[in-house]
Amino acid sequence: MDQFYFFLVFVHIFSAILGMGPGFILTVIPKTATRLSELRHAYVIRHRLHIFVMIGGTMLLVTGLLMGLLRPYLFQMGWYITSLSLFLIALAMGPFVLKRYFKPIKELLKNTSGEQIPAEYHRLSKVLFSYEHLENIIFIIIITLMILKPF
Ligand code: HEM
Repeated sequence: MDQFYFFLVFVHIFSAILGMGPGFILTVIPKTATRLSELRHAYVIRHRLHIFVMIGGTMLLVTGLLMGLLRPYLFQMGWYITSLSLFLIALAMGPFVLKRYFKPIKELLKNTSGEQIPAEYHRLSKVLFSYEHLENIIFIIIITLMILKPF
């Protein structure tokens, strides 16, 4: 059982790197686009990278919960319960918050012609990215709790 637990820790850490790493740079990718075609391409790249975040995130949750099943005392640890709660909040933010603010950007990229990036895009992306930054802060807190296990 110990070996399986350590295998889970191993998979968990790889999932954290491969899933969370790309997640942290999602807001950076569209920043350098100066033309609409570049911006559209930036969102294609973001979409591809987001697949890593979804797979890595799911594996983090599954391996984390399996570790809890193998060592039930974890459910009495503050760092574990807090991380799990924060993770579920961050997960719910995807469909309930991020999707809502991404929708008008998606429409705008689809319906705008020419190469000029509309001023409206900058307003919309500022709101979307502020929520993505909040997600990043939540993940930084979770990683810190994972490493330090302070309470
Ligand atoms: C953003 C999401 C997460 C990231 C980036 C992450 C990352 C990590 C990292 C790097 C470690 C190794 C730390 C160490 O032991 O020195 C770790 C350990 C651990 N994580 Fe996570 N984790 C995440 C979410 C979760 C969730 C949601 C759970 C619970 C359901 C969980 C359960 C655990 C457990 C039980 C360990 C301890 C393994 C051990 O040392 O015995 N993690 N995590």
